[in-house]
Amino acid sequence: MAEREPIGVVGVGWVGLVTAACFAELGHRVHAVDIDAAKVEALRAGRPTIHEPGLDDLVERNRERLAFTTEIGEALDAARLLFCCVDTPPTHSGDADLSRVRAVVDRFRGDGGHALVMKSTVPAGTGAAIRRDVEGIAYVSCPEFLKEGSAIEDFMHPDRVVVGGDPGDGWASDAVAELYAPLGGEIVRTDVASAEMVKLASNAFLATKISFINEIANVCEEVGADVTEVARGMGLDERIGSSFLRAGIGYGGSCFPKDVSALKQLAGNTGYHFQLLTAVIEVNELQKRRVIGKLKEHLGPLAGKRVALLGLAFKPDTDDMREASSLVLAARLQGEGAIVAGYDPVARGRAADLLPGVELCGSAAEALEGAHAAILVTEWPEFAELDWAGVREAMAGPLIVDGRNFLDPRKVSAAGLVYEGIGRSEARAGAAVEAAQRGG
Ligand SMILES: NC(=O)c1ccc[n+]([C@@H]2O[C@H](COP(=O)([O-])OP(=O)(O)OC[C@H]3O[C@@H](n4cnc5c(N)ncnc54)[C@H](O)[C@@H]3O)[C@@H](O)[C@H]2O)c1
Repeated sequence: MAEREPIGVVGVGWVGLVTAACFAELGHRVHAVDIDAAKVEALRAGRPTIHEPGLDDLVERNRERLAFTTEIGEALDAARLLFCCVDTPPTHSGDADLSRVRAVVDRFRGDGGHALVMKSTVPAGTGAAIRRDVEGIAYVSCPEFLKEGSAIEDFMHPDRVVVGGDPGDGWASDAVAELYAPLGGEIVRTDVASAEMVKLASNAFLATKISFINEIANVCEEVGADVTEVARGMGLDERIGSSFLRAGIGYGGSCFPKDVSALKQLAGNTGYHFQLLTAVIEVNELQKRRVIGKLKEHLGPLAGKRVALLGLAFKPDTDDMREASSLVLAARLQGEGAIVAGYDPVARGRAADLLPGVELCGSAAEALEGAHAAILVTEWPEFAELDWAGVREAMAGPLIVDGRNFLDPRKVSAAGLVYEGIGRSEARAGAAVEAAQRGG
């Protein structure tokens, strides 16, 4: 493969490491920078730092083209385009914390020969502020849309690539657009503020879709409908689409909660009250807690009851625990006096610090042993394959709450267990049909 333009990547977490490895795979020499010396050391030694399918192989295959360092100067010496992939967590006010972005900008040379390419998710207006503050900086907004669990596939086959540039930095946005051209996705060329807004609006829209279907699920429970059937019927309408219409116990992760809050706050800072997003956030918080209500309905007071959490990561195929529903559930259950056991195929290492007092188990069977109820929190494929008859024997009580509507209710019920999904209670559905037939 022909050598292509060298690039720099600053911040080697989920986005940065995937970006670095994928650009290396495309033939670029990549200088990847992180302030975390232990992480850099691990990456140099070929030790994985995150769980992302296919990533370890990609890093290994491209070791020759990937240099890991703690020195941003090395990247600036070698490359003219530096991709900023540092984290932008929420502050106490709900705004995005830009201190890490600012730390990168401070090290940047505003010499006209380098461009900062912003992949971190930042509030609209950030690019303009940086350009005001750093004379001579070339700035491109190139927000990232990858999903953890399918990050490499998403990078290599993007639906679209958004490249925001402002007049005067034409060379930089042309160069970024050229980097992505071989991937084939549509390249949306626009101004910096609009590019920044595309990212926030996209995540806010997806979160809205999730909260919407969750509210529909809650109404389904009242009227005896099955939300999985409702979502199937809705999703086939091409104006709606089927993705992000799976009801469950709410969204989590490192992006949706903070990005929805950051957009709401961004609007609020300008004096605009974004009412819809306020509701989206509230619905999501309540949705996680509804599970506790379901447990109490079946078990009564939860004090002293053992509850197994199946899955701890915020979604399958990742070990990311940021804003995972398991964190809220475990804390609420412990608040009710329950004994909480948890199992996750890959997130156990990260869970240890985040779930104090939770018994972390080495298998689903261990977590389920003696449990009065189990909650499926993360839809890892292995949970669909559980031996439900064995599960029934091992558990002290029969309740399975399927927080992701992932299991086959018939299989679970056939083993003598009590299945509760989200918005798909068969018992209630049956009762509603009978009521309708009676004219009730
Ligand atoms: N994770 C996702 O799925 C995803 C998807 C799209 C966009 N994003 C956005 O991308 C950004 C990065 O997210 P992430 O999940 O990869 O974060 P992360 O926390 O996994 O990684 C951030 C990395 O940046 C490093 N870092 C912090 N300050 C630094 C500095 N001054 N110099 C060098 N390195 C520094 C940290 O040590 C860390 O390794 C965020 O703004 C996020 O919103 C994330």
